[in-house]
Amino acid sequence: MANVTIFGAGYVGVPTGAHFARTHTVTVYDPDARKVQSINDVIEKKSDSLHIHEKGLIELLQENHENIHATSDILEALEDPEIIFIAVGTPPNEKGRANLKYVCAAAEQIAKNIKNDCVVLNKSTVPPGTAYLVKEIIENNRVNDVKISVGSCPEFLAEGTAIEDLRTPDRIVYGCDDQDALDRVTDFFLYLHGKATLCPMSTVSSEVTKYAANALLATKISFMNSLAMLCDSIGANVREVQDGVGKDTRIGRKFLNASMGYGGSCFPKDTMAIAEYGQLFKSPLEIIESTIKVNDKTTNYFTEKIIETFGSDLSGKNFIVWGIGFKARTDDLRESKPVQVAKELMDRGAHVHIYDTVAGALTNFVNENNCYEGKFTLHHEQYEMVSEAIDGLVIGNEHEKFRNLNIKILKIMRGKHIYDGKNILNNRLIKDLIASGFTYKSIGKDS
Ligand code: NAD
Ligand code: UGA
Repeated sequence: MANVTIFGAGYVGVPTGAHFARTHTVTVYDPDARKVQSINDVIEKKSDSLHIHEKGLIELLQENHENIHATSDILEALEDPEIIFIAVGTPPNEKGRANLKYVCAAAEQIAKNIKNDCVVLNKSTVPPGTAYLVKEIIENNRVNDVKISVGSCPEFLAEGTAIEDLRTPDRIVYGCDDQDALDRVTDFFLYLHGKATLCPMSTVSSEVTKYAANALLATKISFMNSLAMLCDSIGANVREVQDGVGKDTRIGRKFLNASMGYGGSCFPKDTMAIAEYGQLFKSPLEIIESTIKVNDKTTNYFTEKIIETFGSDLSGKNFIVWGIGFKARTDDLRESKPVQVAKELMDRGAHVHIYDTVAGALTNFVNENNCYEGKFTLHHEQYEMVSEAIDGLVIGNEHEKFRNLNIKILKIMRGKHIYDGKNILNNRLIKDLIASGFTYKSIGKDS
């Protein structure tokens, strides 16, 4: 059992802390007292709602309550940690590079307050070489005479499945150039996972691995999206192509689903950051640059399908958007494609009725889109907004609830148009829709 401290109480820090608390003692540090309070209230069973939505997280925090607590007191956070994970945000800056200000601030806080030897690992997604920068900041600001080794331990969880991803990871990648520190991290993970899962390596290789993984997954999606556009023009069905190609085990079926483009807080920012990094080192990553271009193009291509039906002025039109999160089962709206489409519709004069299975996604939408007030209505029931006044339905994410449409109810809509942004309706349902007078548009399989 080790004492660990995690900097950052966000979508990575809290689930990771709850997972580590199965076998280790965990302190989650965040300067945001509201988030800290929200975690401690859940741990102490005073509340059943957290500041982020993640399936199974509340239960895991409560199950491991004896081993985890949160604090916004830096001295308490750095009382005696053996390993520190930095899991703060790395949003894009104006050039598309990773903004390291939160990582650097965390490094400085560690340097000024740590009183014992320890290993510091970046869990945030950061450009190769950042661990060396963190090391430098710590050395330059260190107050006490302690040995701090710095490395990297990138995270591969996906939102919505974070707890399961953490429990049964395909691999755990971590890197540190100090062999003794690397061995200590191996021991730490052996309490939680089998040896076969562990993937120790050099610091910089582990930093590159994180970007490589996200960029490759994003590239699989953009690759299929560009073929989907071709399928639309020649009357092929991209879903059949996805299966035909993906069943080759060398390629794999996952992340080949054509869609209105990948969104979220990671693929868009990380592909951009690593592409920028390649340019900086005069080693351009042309494939990743194309992935980004295709992604932007695909979202416009999808929105164009709506505009083709109604023209560019959408004044007086009413649309439904089901699923506003960048994917199903999250309240996270960062770089959400359904949000982008909803805004485009509102910008063109339409009114948008929004429903999501996660209540927090609706709350976040209001908080982040004040300037659109009056142009949208939020709904807590999937079909409550369906009426004669509706001109079209946009499926925004891949939640199962959106796969099985109730055609009887939807038939009231004056505009019988379905835009499936995630290609989730099955062939039989599409046939039934067409037979009921609907048009069906998606990416790579129009009817
Ligand atoms: P987030 O924005 O949800 O959380 C970051 C947290 O860090 C915030 O709560 C913020 O208050 C806190 N913070 C800021 N400065 C701090 C400081 N000095 N000390 C302690 N806490 C501080 O971000 P996230 O989604 O959890 O992502 C964190 C990192 O992990 C990013 O680099 C991201 O790319 C990477 N990542 C994210 C995911 C994901 O699914 N969200 C998955 C893998 C990797
Ligand atoms: C992604 C990766 O899957 C994680 O491994 C990684 O840790 C994380 O980024 C990160 O670095 O933050 P996440 O963004 O939570 O996780 O969600 P994904 O399931 O990967 O989906 C990302 C986007 O791609 C979503 O908009 C999703 O709808 C889209 N997608 C996914 C497709 O369009 N097609 C697919 O086949 C798969």
